[in-house]
Amino acid sequence: MTVSATQGVIAFYDTHPINEDEILAKLAARGDDLDSLTQDKLKDFDQDHYGGTEVVDILAERAGIGARHHVLDVCSGMGGPARWLAHTRGCRVTGLDFTQSRVEAARRLTARVGLEQRVDFVHGDATAMPLPDTAFDIVVSQEAWLHIPDKAAVIGQCARVLRPGGTLAFTDVTLSASLTPLEESRLVAEMHAPGVAWTARYLELLATAGLSVKTCEDLSAFWTDTLVKRLAMYRGLRDTTVAKFGAAHFDAWDATYAFFVGLFTAGKLGGARIVARKPD
Ligand SMILES: C[S@@+](CC[C@H](N)C(=O)[O-])C[C@H]1O[C@@H](n2cnc3c(N)ncnc32)[C@H](O)[C@@H]1O
Repeated sequence: MTVSATQGVIAFYDTHPINEDEILAKLAARGDDLDSLTQDKLKDFDQDHYGGTEVVDILAERAGIGARHHVLDVCSGMGGPARWLAHTRGCRVTGLDFTQSRVEAARRLTARVGLEQRVDFVHGDATAMPLPDTAFDIVVSQEAWLHIPDKAAVIGQCARVLRPGGTLAFTDVTLSASLTPLEESRLVAEMHAPGVAWTARYLELLATAGLSVKTCEDLSAFWTDTLVKRLAMYRGLRDTTVAKFGAAHFDAWDATYAFFVGLFTAGKLGGARIVARKPD
């Protein structure tokens, strides 16, 4: 990834409508005491993927995550899924993300709910992970690799850090139909999503990395529904987004997200949940 492409993704998440201040404002507005917060409360607002903690539970089931495991969450954002896995499964989780503001927010939110002994965060690029070989039992990731053009590199890194017999379980945006050149360029310029992959491409890359695919599920219909609701949710965040980043930022975000969701409703983008195993 070029330096400017990386900076584009980081700027996208530095100015994202879902952020630590917004999460804390929502909790306070609901009447939660921020000084005695629990993950059961925080989980309603800290997940930045399509479907909330219910889909983290499904991913954990598919991956077979248990208390004895050390899990790596690749592109962990503000740490919502990492905390939820540690809280519900009793496992240890390390999150990796290259947006420093996300890593710092993840650490603060994790300390607020007292999970810092079992959940830690590393600042780093998923295509060159600053993590040792074979260190993790399970690797998960949700709704992030659309930002990574070099999918072979991220899958290769996941395979490297997994122990023999370990499992990779991830969900990502996939192509369901060819895009026009204008749609492709808007995805790159506005969503920082270069080279969204066909599911078949992921299956090919997993095999090349030596992983055997266990399951591959089509999430397109569920995600289309979820994203239509997510657009409405972002519109509901107008006041906090304008207060933090200004009205022009909100309007640009709104146009971009409406375009993105439109590609799902038009049947051009979809999603997949893929589980693969590293041989013993
Ligand atoms: C949509 S958020 C998902 C966050 C988290 N998985 C969740 O479900 O709450 C995507 C995250 O991917 C991170 N990201 C994108 N490209 C990355 C890369 N090459 N290396 C590390 N993190 C990356 C972004 O910084 C962002 O925090």
